[in-house]
Amino acid sequence: MSRPLIVAIDGPAGAGKSSVSKVLSLRLGFTLVDTGAIYRCVALKAVRGGVALDDVPGLQALLDQVKVTFRMDVDKNHVFLDGEDVSDDIRTSEVSAAASKVSAQPVVRSALLGLQRRLALAAEKGAILEGRDIGTVVFPDADIKVFLFADPSIRARRRYEELFQHQQEKPVDQVLADQNKRDKEDSERAVAPLKAADDAVKIDSTELPLSEVVGRIEALVSAKRVI
Ligand code: DC
Repeated sequence: MSRPLIVAIDGPAGAGKSSVSKVLSLRLGFTLVDTGAIYRCVALKAVRGGVALDDVPGLQALLDQVKVTFRMDVDKNHVFLDGEDVSDDIRTSEVSAAASKVSAQPVVRSALLGLQRRLALAAEKGAILEGRDIGTVVFPDADIKVFLFADPSIRARRRYEELFQHQQEKPVDQVLADQNKRDKEDSERAVAPLKAADDAVKIDSTELPLSEVVGRIEALVSAKRVI
């Protein structure tokens, strides 16, 4: 094989992409590239540096220096921004909102394209990329494309529980309102909006346990490896 097997997992926030991708990467021994975390790192760096989220020259200068790396532990995929472990700092509501804004900037999307591809192509066996535009833009020729979605109220409930675990409790209707706003921004932006690739396998995780979703994607990977 001339390049690692590429598995693209796209979908809105809270559909289960992160949990599914983490379990899959551990089971298959594949590299995990959490592309949302990369956008979150850029947002965190902008917020910390006082760069306005629509300041194109300011963002460009920041992108010229940003360094994002990952280290997979048994329990967690650690994210490093310029060498600092920011795994928790990038999950706040403030950074979520900022990430949605910076990710709409074409300058940010094009600067991060090469990084996402490099991280995946450096994988030994295979790479799982989770995001919004992996199957449509980053790897339109991915070996496996999955679009994972779920009912908005279920997604908001999952996000509420995640925030709760990180001591950032917020009323669930507020979580739902923020999520609707982000979904709208992500789906309606001019560049690389959130949408399923025509050839993606669509999985509705509303009623499915994690193990079932993982099993379905594993079956897709096995089928590819045999061919
Ligand atoms: O998946 P996430 O919630 O960590 O993503 C953070 C933000 O980055 C979200 O607003 C969507 C955006 N994003 C994107 O535009 N393209 C990707 N490939 C991944 C995330």
